[in-house]
Amino acid sequence: MLSVSKTVQEMSKDGDEPPQHYIVRDNTLFGPIDTSPPLAPIPVIDISLFLTSPSSLHSSLQEETELEKLRSALSSWGCFQAIGHGMSIEFLNKVRGVTEEFFAMPMEEKRKYSRAAGEIEGYGSDSVVSENQVLDWSDRLSLRIYPEDQRKLRLWPKQPQSFRETIDEYAMNIRSIMGIIFKAMAKSLKLEENSFSKQFGEEAIMQGRLILYPPCSKPNQVFGLKAHSDRSGVTILLQDKQVKGLQVFKDDKWLTVPIIPHALFLNLGDQMQIMSNGIFKSPMHRVVTNSEREKISVALFNEPEPEKEIGPVDDLVDDKRPRLYKNVKNYARFNYECFQKGLVALDTVKF
Ligand code: OGA
Ligand code: NI
Repeated sequence: MLSVSKTVQEMSKDGDEPPQHYIVRDNTLFGPIDTSPPLAPIPVIDISLFLTSPSSLHSSLQEETELEKLRSALSSWGCFQAIGHGMSIEFLNKVRGVTEEFFAMPMEEKRKYSRAAGEIEGYGSDSVVSENQVLDWSDRLSLRIYPEDQRKLRLWPKQPQSFRETIDEYAMNIRSIMGIIFKAMAKSLKLEENSFSKQFGEEAIMQGRLILYPPCSKPNQVFGLKAHSDRSGVTILLQDKQVKGLQVFKDDKWLTVPIIPHALFLNLGDQMQIMSNGIFKSPMHRVVTNSEREKISVALFNEPEPEKEIGPVDDLVDDKRPRLYKNVKNYARFNYECFQKGLVALDTVKF
C-alpha cells in the first residue's frame, strides 16, 4: 500500500507532534535551538544609487560611498537588505499575498502541482533519502523561472488567479535588479563591470522557491530550514512581512535577520564566493519555527548557466591573494553529489 505522507502543513493543522525525523538529534552538540537571538545589524543599501542614467539625481560621491558599503557588507556579512529597488510595498505585499493564498488552498488543489519522486520542481516537503536525515518543518513550491523556455507551466498554480502574472512580474523585476547588482559588485572591487555577469551568462538560471513554515509545537528542537549556505550565485529573499525566523551566522554566533517589509534580503551563495576568490562570503543561515504563527518567504536563486565554467575572476588573483578555488561547472549537481557523500562542496573545490 502506498501511503501519501502528510505535508508539514497538515501535521501542523492536525496538531501532530513533529515525528522523530524532524527532531534535531545530538543535542549535546547543538543544544536547544535558540529561536530568538539578538537582531543582526545587517547593512541596508540603497541600490538606486547604483543606477547610472543621465537623469539620476544622486552624485557620484553618493554612489562611491554606497559601493564601499556594498563591498564591506558582502565581505563581512555576505548579505544586505536592499532598498531603492523600485518596487512598491503594495507590490511586494501582492507577491507575499499570492504565496499565502496558494498555501491556504485546499490540499487537493495544491497536490495538482506535487513534486514527482526524484524531481526538484513542484509542491511538497522534504522526502526521506537517508536514515539519519533531519527533516525541515516547511512545505515548498519550487519552480524554474528563467530561462523562460524551461518553465514547466503545468507546475505553476492556476489558483490564486493572479499567481502566475504576479510571480512573473516579480521575477522580471528581480532579473533587472540582478543586472544592477552584478555591475555594482564588480565596480565595488574595481573590476570591469561585466566580470560577474558574463560568468552567469545569457542563459543564467533563476529558480524560485515559495516556502511555508507552519507553526511547530517544538521550536527548540525542530528547524524550519537547517543551517546551510546557498549553492546559488545570488539569492534574493522576500521575507514574511511580520514573522521573523531567519538567522545568519556571524563571528560564531547566530543572529536574527530583522524584517524590513519594503526591503529585499540579498545573500550570496557559494558560487559568488568562488568567483570573488573568497573576498565575498556565502553566509551560513537557517530558519527557526515558532509555535504560534505561520510564516512564508519567497526565495529567488540566481545561478550561472550550468554548462559554463566559473572560477575566481583573474584580477582578484595575485601574489598577495592566491587563487583559492578551482574552476567548476554545474555547481548545482556537484553540490548535490557532495551532500550525498556528506562533504561540503565549497571545501572540495578549494585549491
Ligand atoms: C533558502 C533559505 C530562508 C527563508 O530557501 O535557501 O535560506 O527565510 N530561505 O525562507
Ligand atoms: Ni538559503
